[in-house]
Amino acid sequence: MSAARGEFSSRFGFLMAASGSAVGLGNIWGFPTNTASNGGAAFLFTYLILVFLLAYPALMAELIIGRHGHSNAVTALQGLSRGRATYLLGTTVGFVGIVTVSLILSFYVIVSGWMMAYLIDPLARLAGLNSLAGWLTGDGLVRDSLFVLLFMGLTIYVISAGVKEGIEKWASRLMPSLIVILILLILYVVTLPGASEGLRAYLVPDFGVVANPHLIINALGQAFFSLSLGVGTMLIYGSYVNKRENLAQLGSLVALLDVGIAFLAGLLILPAMYVAQNNGVAIYDAAGGLIAGPGLILSVLPALFNSMGPIGLLVALAFFLLMTIASLTSSISMLEVPVAYAVENHGVERKKATVAIGAIIAVICLIIVANFSVLFDLTVTVTTEWSQPLGGLFFCVFVAWIWNRNGLLREISQGYPDVEQSLFWKIWPFYVKFICPVAILMVYVQLLGFL
Ligand code: PFF
Repeated sequence: MSAARGEFSSRFGFLMAASGSAVGLGNIWGFPTNTASNGGAAFLFTYLILVFLLAYPALMAELIIGRHGHSNAVTALQGLSRGRATYLLGTTVGFVGIVTVSLILSFYVIVSGWMMAYLIDPLARLAGLNSLAGWLTGDGLVRDSLFVLLFMGLTIYVISAGVKEGIEKWASRLMPSLIVILILLILYVVTLPGASEGLRAYLVPDFGVVANPHLIINALGQAFFSLSLGVGTMLIYGSYVNKRENLAQLGSLVALLDVGIAFLAGLLILPAMYVAQNNGVAIYDAAGGLIAGPGLILSVLPALFNSMGPIGLLVALAFFLLMTIASLTSSISMLEVPVAYAVENHGVERKKATVAIGAIIAVICLIIVANFSVLFDLTVTVTTEWSQPLGGLFFCVFVAWIWNRNGLLREISQGYPDVEQSLFWKIWPFYVKFICPVAILMVYVQLLGFL
């Protein structure tokens, strides 16, 4: 089996693929507005601490289990088990991860489809097709369904080509483009009137807000979503990493890239919102908070682009291209989870598995689209607030409580021979054993209303 398995051909390839999974709508959409509404730089500071003290250790747990098992989550966790009970637990955690990531992909594809529609809108307007432009940016079942199919088609296209020719090749092209577009957009937007007020809202700390436990817990949830944790995505990417690589270092680079791009996204979104306000667009909702949900991306920013005159078309094109790229490098990582399982454990040919599973998930997307008001928020809440942190908790439990310490050390030493003397080995095992599980449990205590 191992000969047939894909593998990333270089560190760069892995870094682009894994940071591509991590960097997505969560970074460009979620993080900046969360920061602005929750104490600016004070939230950023709390977020950074949480990423490096809690999410990074959980990320390492997944990468290490994956590389050790050289397989998908179900098989890798079964391989670490020490008896019937832990075997059953491993099987369950692996399967729940597959179901969860498929459901995350279902809502993610819907939102990514909107990004694609808004990407085509400026092109339609340039071509003078104004009624098409109106259709692209107006809500509608047919538009949503069509773009679900288009975006899912792209995701299937990349994943069916495999690890090297699909994931690595496309992530290595798309991620550098994403960074260039993001920087160009920032450089342009910060020169516009009103931008400095946005920078202030983003960067001036208000430490009074940070002591709030809800805020800390929300930041932890954001960190888990942003690093694609708890569903086996990072685990499967870890399984494609060569044994010669230093995983601890690769993992920290992925976390740094994720945080770095989220930070840069804030330098774009917040100034853009205040420039929009300067141009007469409302950026606060009725309750007095900054508009953060779909309203931000689908109405505030398009209104800003419209108010910019002809250059606004170009800016809109660049912005929605950025969003589409960010979405695609994340969606491929999600589809890879069930596909890898079908290929490895059931011998299904990759192309067939990708098309079949992609089609099933597309049907789920269409069901959500048709019952949007009931199913969309429910799917987001169940998968990201409940399932994802719970999965993360169990990956930590497997690494720290079920796997024996020597086996773990042996796996990490490959590619990092002096790890035993490192700060990483002094701190990380303690974190995954005690701190991460307790912190994740606190999230549930809060969700159940006890905090
Ligand atoms: N990390 C992605 C984002 O920030 O948008 C979302 C994500 C990707 C979640 C992959 C889960 C996953 F498995």
